[in-house]
Order: sequence, then structure tokens, then C-alpha cells
Amino acid sequence: MEKILDIITAKMQQAFVDAGYEASFGRVTVSNRPDLCEYQCNGALAAAKQYKCAPIAIANSVVEKLDANDYDMVEAVMPGFINLKLSGAFLQKYLEEMRTAEDFGISKLGAGKTIVVDYGGPNVAKPLHIGHLRSAIIGESLKRLYKFFGYHTIGDIHLGDWGLQMGLIIAELRERQPDLCYFDPDYTGEYPAEPPFTISELEQIYPAASAKKKEDPEFADKAHTATFELQSGRPGYRAIWQHIMKLSVADMTKIYDDLDVHFESWLGESDADPYIPAMLEDIKAKGLAVLSEGALVMPVAEESDKKEVPPCILVKSDGSAIYATTDLATMVQRMQDWGPDKILYLTDKRQALHFEQVFRAARKSGIVKPETELEHIGFGTMNGKDGKPFKTREGGVMRLENLIADMTDFVRAKVVENQIVAEAEVEQTTKKIAMAALKYGDLSNQPTKDYIFDMDRFAAFEGNTGPYILYTIVRIKSILARYGAWEHLQIQIPSNSYAKDLQLAITKFGPSLESALSNSAPNLICAYIYELAGAANKFYHETPILKEEDQEKKAGYIALMGLTKRILEQCTALLGFEAPEKM
Ligand code: ARG
Repeated sequence: MEKILDIITAKMQQAFVDAGYEASFGRVTVSNRPDLCEYQCNGALAAAKQYKCAPIAIANSVVEKLDANDYDMVEAVMPGFINLKLSGAFLQKYLEEMRTAEDFGISKLGAGKTIVVDYGGPNVAKPLHIGHLRSAIIGESLKRLYKFFGYHTIGDIHLGDWGLQMGLIIAELRERQPDLCYFDPDYTGEYPAEPPFTISELEQIYPAASAKKKEDPEFADKAHTATFELQSGRPGYRAIWQHIMKLSVADMTKIYDDLDVHFESWLGESDADPYIPAMLEDIKAKGLAVLSEGALVMPVAEESDKKEVPPCILVKSDGSAIYATTDLATMVQRMQDWGPDKILYLTDKRQALHFEQVFRAARKSGIVKPETELEHIGFGTMNGKDGKPFKTREGGVMRLENLIADMTDFVRAKVVENQIVAEAEVEQTTKKIAMAALKYGDLSNQPTKDYIFDMDRFAAFEGNTGPYILYTIVRIKSILARYGAWEHLQIQIPSNSYAKDLQLAITKFGPSLESALSNSAPNLICAYIYELAGAANKFYHETPILKEEDQEKKAGYIALMGLTKRILEQCTALLGFEAPEKM
């Protein structure tokens, strides 16, 4: 569907032409004085310079050419602004079209395009912690947004399953249980189907090994060797690695499922490994790599750089591949298998330089097509109330499952205390509200900014929060339920100013989502629904909807509530949460 701004701009441009001026002066913008008007055109001021006459005279002559049916108010005001308020008839027609169109008439900007969203990045054998929360929440929301705009989307978890951490676990396990068949180089039988450790043991082994590496150079050597041997395909190590993967992935899936975050692809760094040799050959053949202190690197600095951008390291002096190598090889795989038009990465903003280097290296070496867009969203830190990175009470890194559990407990207490639902529904309702609190609390901030995790504020039913949005939806649902079938009812001309404000808010759906998409900013969806929910609540407060005796009028109110609910639900689905039946 065409956006309102485009429709009225076209009409304004025609009016400029009809009045004898160039069309280009007829650009309309959203008013910066909402107290005076809804839209405005400042073109007469610019035209006055070109045509050498008073701007107000131009504005007046243009206003005469506009179709009065489209506006409740159209005014030329000094020194030459044109102020507009849309007519109810215009809004009614527009909203009725939105109501009946597929996906509210959103433009399918991504039709025929593929995007890979890389928003997992958990390292196997290490529990998910709050550092993984933001990439999961923001990434899932952006992926859903791209999908809504018609893109073919592939969310890739990109597991950290290949580096030194694997060697550390193997080396530590070997010290603890040296007699296991996995360590016997002469063993030729089948390896056991069941792992020799549980997930909790595994989670305990890794930090122990990691600490040991720092104090014990001999152990560090063993871990490096184990990593190398694993990567070279030693069967016993491969078998352990399989066990680790299986346990770890099952554990992660549970938490991601809890967050309603779903990946289409579960590939990891290990899957990029086979692409490395040929890729390096190609880079060398193109003369892009140089040796530097024993390492193979690719210079990626550019003249326009304001800060130093160091070369991208491809192979370390000990012959091993590193993080950047894996990311480049992963691009080879993605281009080959999926041919994406865009790859979007979500990580902590401290990885910005890494991605700058990798993107440049990918372009220089032709790993991605010139037209393939690469974007890294570096998000800020989630802080505690003290303004420092969020920690547990003991000062450690908070496990993601504990954070979710804390939020859920907090919300459950409210749900129970306020007797919101019958006992059988407490759990389901609690989960939905807790998700909304957690996700909206995060997503309503600009991704690059740090924010403070404040459970009280995030879970409040009032204010700019997820639960407030849910509450608005639940309220509308209950009005609709009391009315009966509403889906067929048509939008009417707004009969009071609250209805008009609500209708105007609904029309901003398309433009708001488009800017959320082009700025990779789910916070713009939050800002939009906060405004929409506000307008809906005002309308509902000021208009006796169900008590209205004029049946025709009542049907119009209900139709408006119904459309509002559908739009709010569409937006919360894009943010990754949904409303319960009661609240
Ligand atoms: N595993 C990485 C880490 O823990 C994050 C991976 C992000 N994605 C990527 N393609 N580099 O830092």
C-alpha cells in the first residue's frame, strides 16, 4: 500500500503544478507542530526564491488547488507554510484498505531476497549467559521483521564449537579419566553411545580447564595439541567432541525455546573448517596475503581510515586458524549454499573492529559478491542498577536461565497476588508476561546503547513496558469478546477526536516498520506500539463503546478496536512475544 505521506505529497505536487509551479516543491512532511496540524508542506518558501514572489501568495494559490474533501483543515499560514489535517473520509478509506489488505498492505521490500542473520554465537560446553541475551532477542526480532517484509530469512546460530575450548575440555577430561577408550590411540572398536560426563560435569570441566591453562604451561600445551588433533580428525577426540555437541546443543535448545528464539541453521565454526584451505589458497593466489612475524595476514587498512585498522590475521604463526579465518570461511559456505543478498551479524559492540576487518577482507578477496550487503550490529551492555555490567549477587556472570527464572518468579508473584487468572493458567500467563517484560525492556532501547536491567520497571503494568502493551491488547480482546463477531466490520469515519487520533496512529504502522527495518532498530517498533497503545487507551476511556446505542456507530468503534488489536499483535509478534487471554 502506498504510504499516506506519498499520497498527499503526490496530491500536493499536482496542486503546485496546477498553480503554475514546479512539482518538486510539493513535498509533504509529518508536522513538527502536532498541536497545529498533522502534516505540513514548506515548499512555498523555497519556491518563493525561484519565482521571486511572496511565499504566502504561493501557498495561498496552491491551497486553492487542493481537493477539500481530503482535508478537515488546509491552511496557508505566514510566512508561507501549508498546514494540513486529514479528513475523516480520507482516513476511513485508507484504514479500510489496510484492514482488508494482506499484512496490512505493507510493501514487500524483500521479495526475492535472502538474508542470513547470525545471532547466536554461543560456545558449546559453556552455559549461555546474559551476554547471549541481547543477540538472541534483537536478532530474532530483526529476523522476524525481515521476514515480514518478504525476505527469505535464515537464522544461523553459528556455534562456537571448534576452538581451543574444545581442546581444553579434552585435555582436562584426559587428566581426570585417562583410561577412557577415547584416549587410547590403538583403540579400534566403536565408541560408546553415551557420553562419559553429564552436562553439569561438562560445565564444571570447562572453567576448571580454563583456569588451569593460565597457571600451567604444560597443560596449556596439551590443550593446544588436543585442539590440533581434534581438528586433524583424531577419531577418539572426534567422538568426545560429538558427545559434547550433543549434550550442549540439547541444553541450549531448551533455553532458546524458552525465549521463543529459533534458528533455521545450526551450523558452527567447525562446519567452516573444510572451506579454509581452498580459501587461503585463493587469497594467496590473488596476492592479498603477506607474512608478518610468522603469521599470514591480509592488510585491510584504507587511506580514509581515521583509526588504525590492523591487518586481518588468517593463519597464526603456529599454523592455526583463528576467529577471523573462521568467519571468512563461513562466508564462503553461506555464499555457496544460500547466496544471500545480505548477512547481518549481532554481537557485543566490542567486536566492531573484528567485523570491520573481516568485512574488508571478504570484499577484497571477492568472498562475497560486491552487491551482498554486510552489516554488523554491535549492541551495548546490559547493566545492573549500579550502572556496571549486570552480575549475580555473588559478583559472577549470570546464567541466562537464571535470569529468565528470576524474571519469571517476579512476575508469577504479581500474577498470584493480584489473582489475575485461575490457578491452572498461572504458569502460562506468567510466562507470557515475563517474556514481554524481558524482551521489551531490552528492545525498547536503541541496540547500540547500554541499558539498565530493572526488573521492577520492566515488569510494571504501566509505563513504557511490555506488560503495558499486553494489558492494552487484553483489554481490547475483552471488549471484542463481549461484542461478538467483529472481523467483518468496516472502519468508519472517526466520530470523535480520540477515534481520529487512534486512526492516525494506525496509519503510521507501515512507515514505522520501514524505518525499523532500514535502521535495524526494533526500538522503533516499540516506540510505535507505545504510541498506538496510548491512543487506544485514550479512545477506550473517552468513548462508551459497548454502551453506544446507535448500532451503526458501535460497529464502527468495534471495527477500530479490532484493527488496533490486530496491529498491536502483529507488532508484538515481530518483537517476539504475545499477549495472554487475561491479565
Ligand atoms: N562465539 C563468538 C563469541 O563468543 C560469537 C560469534 C558471533 N558470530 C560470528 N559470526 N562471529 O564471541
